[in-house]
Amino acid sequence: MSWGLRNRLSRIIKPETKRTVMLAVDHGYFLGPIRGLENPRRTITPLLPYADAIMLTRGVLRTSVDPTVDVAVVLRVSGGNTIAGPALGNEDIVTSVRDAIRLNAAALAFSIYVGTPYEHQTLKALAKLVDLGEDYGIPVLAVTAVGRELEKRETKYIALACRVAAELGAHFIKTYYTPEFEKVVDAAPVPLVIAGGPKMESEMDALKLAYEAVSAGAAGVDFGRNVFQSSNPVGMIRALRRIVHEGWTPKEAAQELGQVVGGPAAT
Ligand code: 5RP
Repeated sequence: MSWGLRNRLSRIIKPETKRTVMLAVDHGYFLGPIRGLENPRRTITPLLPYADAIMLTRGVLRTSVDPTVDVAVVLRVSGGNTIAGPALGNEDIVTSVRDAIRLNAAALAFSIYVGTPYEHQTLKALAKLVDLGEDYGIPVLAVTAVGRELEKRETKYIALACRVAAELGAHFIKTYYTPEFEKVVDAAPVPLVIAGGPKMESEMDALKLAYEAVSAGAAGVDFGRNVFQSSNPVGMIRALRRIVHEGWTPKEAAQELGQVVGGPAAT
């Protein structure tokens, strides 16, 4: 790994804890203005101080994030599909590495659709992106997308998708938590960050997911809907930081949900 690549990765996965709290706000690239992200700037601004990295497209970055902000940018460079179209997996590279560098991206994110008709296309594009990332010192985040088929979130499938992404050279991977997650960690020798998925019934469910994932070896979380669709988004991301970086239990971290923003930290 080149110096630049390691340096960029360490802006996302913090060397002190070897973990990360990423905020995913890239959903609009295929879902449009979903609940909680109708106005990206309004959603993102109060959450930024608590995120190690923010995952988003160049369109939202340019229009809705202050360029003076101190947060690592994980730039989604794949797209070309929508929830309304015929094939969710029909995704390709839609942003150049040159533009990613111009935007000071710390990493490039690309979705792979293993087990779908778009498997070959997305895996080849991932490998091409890894080559470009190596050329320019930018790490690549492979996102193991399951599209509409949420039942694919089983250990065997997730381990397969993560292993393939790691074999093709992805520097870190965003995937779903599964009950036997240690098997996924073993299978993929690169850091794994966990997607939150659709908003869960309660905040505590999402905190438990984060806690179980990091306890099983995940390098952190890259939550979107379970943060910005919460009734207390700032409390949620603060609680996630407690779990991911400080080893708090979900019950301890839940104190953040009842706290006044900007008030003293829970001990
Ligand atoms: C799709 C994605 C999403 O755009 C997003 O990042 C998912 O985040 P969450 O599930 O936590 O809302 O990666 O594959």
